[in-house]
Amino acid sequence: MMDESRRGFIGKAFGAVAAVGGIASLIAMKKTWDPLPSVMSAGFTTVDVSGLEANKLEIVVWRGKPIFILKYSADMKPTDGRSVKIGDSYFSVMIGLCTHLGCIPGYEGEKKLFKCACHGGEYSADGVQTFGPPPRPLDIPPFKLDGVTLVLGEEGPEYKKMTAKA
Ligand code: FES
Repeated sequence: MMDESRRGFIGKAFGAVAAVGGIASLIAMKKTWDPLPSVMSAGFTTVDVSGLEANKLEIVVWRGKPIFILKYSADMKPTDGRSVKIGDSYFSVMIGLCTHLGCIPGYEGEKKLFKCACHGGEYSADGVQTFGPPPRPLDIPPFKLDGVTLVLGEEGPEYKKMTAKA
């Protein structure tokens, strides 16, 4: 009788410890799945634009999205709220997803325009829609400048100025 209840108690106690251990190992596993805190809180991508060629589209990936970086050639005019000066040159910095239904437009350097193959939408080099179904210009991702380095994912004064005007 005594023995049985003792065994019952030990059994329960062991069960409780096992359950706690199970939760602890689940927490440990979850920790390994989560991104590192530094990566999670930062979430930015840096791009040195000093080596980019004029009128040639550069595409980088930021938070899973294509980001268009287009350095203007001498004959391309910057526009307020759409072009940003980095170093001595002007650039378009935009999320490369068509504002119609999200396809990735291609850049035609000879015509200096973006064309979306999905439904024929077109945008000028600064990302303003000029033809077809796109309802608004290409979006501008949050960015800041650090010399000639573009930091995607942080809102700097240039970004705030551009988006206030856009
Ligand atoms: S998704 Fe680009 S025009 Fe429709």
